[in-house]
Amino acid sequence: MDLLAMIAFLLPCYFANAAPVILGGGARMDFDIKLGDGGDLLGKTKTIRGFLGGVGIGIVVAGIISVLFPMLIFGDQKTLFLSGVLLSIGALVGDAVGSFIKRRMGIESGKPLILVDQLDFIAGALVFAYPVANSVYTLESIIFMVALTYVLHVISNAAANKVGLKKVPW
Ligand code: CTP
Ligand code: MG
Repeated sequence: MDLLAMIAFLLPCYFANAAPVILGGGARMDFDIKLGDGGDLLGKTKTIRGFLGGVGIGIVVAGIISVLFPMLIFGDQKTLFLSGVLLSIGALVGDAVGSFIKRRMGIESGKPLILVDQLDFIAGALVFAYPVANSVYTLESIIFMVALTYVLHVISNAAANKVGLKKVPW
């Protein structure tokens, strides 16, 4: 898989992960549940609207890519679309799992945790898409996708912070 194909493959999960910054807010995903350790289950910044908005935008992007480049990567439009859908759902689930881990470590919502902040969503995305996309999962391609995501995450969050979309640069 070349770089451009890889970016196109991952685009649904990148959009899914970014959309909640704009679309999020309102009711919490964790319904305000606290665990025995006194911490939030997920925290107040994980919202239902953010989750559904992120998945929805990811699915729209998956649709656009599979219409524009139906034969990309898998040579099968349905597989390409389905992989984008699963990447998007997995991204938001992975993001929530990352928050769960941070809360268990006593890290407040919005405070940084290196590696988890940058990679929770791509890990979730790749796991969820595995059933349909495993043909493109090699050790090299996974390392490359994770490294690419890390770099893009750092750059895009710094940019989002500069233009005022995010309060913090991570
Ligand atoms: N967001 C949301 N719903 C989600 C995920 C994210 O509304 N399910 C929004 C929130 O406004 C959140 C922003 O997107 O503040 C950025 O998400 P992220 O960086 O993942 O969350 P943090 O606020 O940093 O929280 P955490 O410490 O749990 O990572
Ligand atoms: Mg964060």
